[in-house]
Amino acid sequence: MNPTPAQLKKLTAVARQAAGRAYAPYSKFPVGAAVLTTTGKIYAGCNVENASYGLTNCAERTAIFTAVAAGEKNLRLRCVVVYTPTAGATAPCGACRQVIYEFGPAARVLSCCDSRERIDVSIDALLPGAFGPHDLA
Ligand code: THU
Repeated sequence: MNPTPAQLKKLTAVARQAAGRAYAPYSKFPVGAAVLTTTGKIYAGCNVENASYGLTNCAERTAIFTAVAAGEKNLRLRCVVVYTPTAGATAPCGACRQVIYEFGPAARVLSCCDSRERIDVSIDALLPGAFGPHDLA
Protein backbone atom coordinates (compact mmCIF):
# COMPACT_ATOMS: atom_id res chain seq x y z
CA MET A 1 0.00 0.00 0.00
CA ASN A 2 1.25 3.46 -0.88
CA PRO A 3 1.91 6.06 1.82
CA THR A 4 -0.67 8.81 2.12
CA PRO A 5 0.32 12.38 1.15
CA ALA A 6 0.42 13.22 4.90
CA GLN A 7 2.75 10.29 5.58
CA LEU A 8 5.00 11.34 2.70
CA LYS A 9 5.16 14.87 4.06
CA LYS A 10 6.05 13.54 7.51
CA LEU A 11 8.67 11.13 6.11
CA THR A 12 10.31 13.94 4.16
CA ALA A 13 10.43 16.17 7.25
CA VAL A 14 11.87 13.34 9.37
CA ALA A 15 14.51 12.52 6.74
CA ARG A 16 15.48 16.18 6.47
CA GLN A 17 15.83 16.50 10.24
CA ALA A 18 17.89 13.32 10.38
CA ALA A 19 20.35 14.73 7.83
CA GLY A 20 21.08 17.41 10.40
CA ARG A 21 22.34 14.69 12.74
CA ALA A 22 24.68 13.10 10.17
CA TYR A 23 28.26 12.39 11.18
CA ALA A 24 29.99 13.08 7.88
CA PRO A 25 33.28 14.89 8.61
CA TYR A 26 35.10 13.13 5.74
CA SER A 27 32.69 13.36 2.82
CA LYS A 28 30.87 16.42 4.13
CA PHE A 29 27.85 14.85 2.45
CA PRO A 30 25.10 14.58 5.05
CA VAL A 31 22.22 12.24 4.29
CA GLY A 32 18.98 11.65 6.15
CA ALA A 33 16.52 8.81 5.76
CA ALA A 34 13.11 7.89 7.07
CA VAL A 35 11.41 4.53 6.71
CA LEU A 36 7.70 3.82 7.00
CA THR A 37 6.68 0.35 8.18
CA THR A 38 3.53 -1.41 7.04
CA THR A 39 2.20 -0.85 10.59
CA GLY A 40 2.56 2.91 10.15
CA LYS A 41 5.67 3.52 12.24
CA ILE A 42 8.46 5.83 11.13
CA TYR A 43 12.16 5.43 11.93
CA ALA A 44 14.91 7.91 11.10
CA GLY A 45 18.56 7.46 10.22
CA CYS A 46 21.60 9.45 9.15
CA ASN A 47 24.96 8.49 7.70
CA VAL A 48 27.67 7.75 10.25
CA GLU A 49 31.20 7.88 8.89
CA ASN A 50 34.46 6.58 10.31
CA ALA A 51 38.15 7.43 9.99
CA SER A 52 38.37 3.93 8.55
CA TYR A 53 36.24 5.05 5.61
CA GLY A 54 34.86 1.67 4.63
CA LEU A 55 33.04 1.35 7.95
CA THR A 56 30.67 4.14 7.03
CA ASN A 57 27.00 3.37 7.55
CA CYS A 58 24.59 5.07 5.17
CA ALA A 59 21.47 6.87 6.34
CA GLU A 60 19.12 4.26 4.86
CA ARG A 61 20.77 1.37 6.66
CA THR A 62 20.93 3.33 9.91
CA ALA A 63 17.16 3.88 9.73
CA ILE A 64 16.44 0.23 8.99
CA PHE A 65 18.80 -1.08 11.66
CA THR A 66 17.26 1.38 14.12
CA ALA A 67 13.83 -0.11 13.40
CA VAL A 68 15.12 -3.63 14.01
CA ALA A 69 16.96 -2.56 17.15
CA ALA A 70 13.77 -0.88 18.41
CA GLY A 71 12.12 -4.30 18.43
CA GLU A 72 10.36 -4.50 15.05
CA LYS A 73 10.02 -8.25 14.80
CA ASN A 74 8.46 -8.70 11.39
CA LEU A 75 9.72 -5.51 9.85
CA ARG A 76 8.14 -4.74 6.50
CA LEU A 77 9.00 -1.45 4.84
CA ARG A 78 6.36 0.38 2.89
CA CYS A 79 8.48 3.35 1.93
CA VAL A 80 12.02 4.69 2.28
CA VAL A 81 12.62 8.42 1.92
CA VAL A 82 16.15 9.76 1.42
CA TYR A 83 17.01 13.42 1.77
CA THR A 84 20.23 15.20 0.78
CA PRO A 85 20.79 18.96 1.05
CA THR A 86 21.84 19.12 -2.59
CA ALA A 87 20.45 20.35 -5.89
CA GLY A 88 20.00 16.80 -7.18
CA ALA A 89 18.35 13.75 -5.65
CA THR A 90 20.58 10.88 -4.47
CA ALA A 91 19.73 7.25 -5.15
CA PRO A 92 20.57 4.65 -2.46
CA CYS A 93 23.89 2.86 -2.85
CA GLY A 94 24.01 -0.82 -3.76
CA ALA A 95 24.48 -2.02 -0.18
CA CYS A 96 21.43 -0.04 0.96
CA ARG A 97 19.35 -1.38 -1.94
CA GLN A 98 20.12 -4.90 -0.75
CA VAL A 99 19.18 -4.07 2.86
CA ILE A 100 16.00 -2.27 1.77
CA TYR A 101 15.04 -5.34 -0.27
CA GLU A 102 15.51 -7.64 2.73
CA PHE A 103 12.78 -5.86 4.67
CA GLY A 104 10.79 -4.26 1.86
CA PRO A 105 10.72 -6.26 -1.36
CA ALA A 106 7.83 -4.09 -2.52
CA ALA A 107 9.01 -0.83 -0.94
CA ARG A 108 8.75 2.52 -2.63
CA VAL A 109 12.00 4.51 -2.58
CA LEU A 110 11.75 8.26 -2.79
CA SER A 111 14.80 10.53 -2.88
CA CYS A 112 14.37 14.25 -2.41
CA CYS A 113 16.66 17.23 -2.11
CA ASP A 114 16.63 21.03 -2.06
CA SER A 115 15.25 21.36 -5.54
CA ARG A 116 12.07 19.86 -6.96
CA GLU A 117 14.06 16.96 -8.39
CA ARG A 118 12.85 13.57 -7.18
CA ILE A 119 13.69 9.92 -7.68
CA ASP A 120 10.53 7.94 -7.03
CA VAL A 121 10.80 4.25 -7.85
CA SER A 122 10.19 0.78 -6.46
CA ILE A 123 13.06 -1.19 -4.92
CA ASP A 124 12.42 -3.71 -7.67
CA ALA A 125 13.44 -1.09 -10.24
CA LEU A 126 16.59 -0.26 -8.26
CA LEU A 127 17.58 -3.88 -7.66
CA PRO A 128 16.08 -6.09 -10.35
CA GLY A 129 16.40 -9.83 -9.87
CA ALA A 130 17.48 -9.34 -6.28
CA PHE A 131 18.94 -12.03 -4.09
CA GLY A 132 16.84 -12.24 -0.98
CA PRO A 133 15.32 -14.33 1.80
CA HIS A 134 13.28 -16.31 -0.76
CA ASP A 135 16.51 -17.73 -2.18
CA LEU A 136 17.34 -19.36 1.15
CA ALA A 137 13.87 -20.83 1.75
N1 THU B 1 25.42 7.96 1.68
C1 THU B 1 24.26 7.69 2.32
O1 THU B 1 24.15 7.82 3.54
N2 THU B 1 23.22 7.28 1.58
C2 THU B 1 23.20 7.23 0.23
O2 THU B 1 22.18 6.92 -0.36
C3 THU B 1 24.42 7.53 -0.53
C4 THU B 1 25.64 7.77 0.27
C5 THU B 1 26.54 8.49 2.48
C6 THU B 1 27.71 7.57 2.70
C7 THU B 1 28.81 8.57 2.97
O3 THU B 1 28.77 8.94 4.34
C8 THU B 1 28.44 9.78 2.14
O4 THU B 1 27.07 9.62 1.83
C9 THU B 1 29.24 9.93 0.86
O5 THU B 1 29.25 8.75 0.15
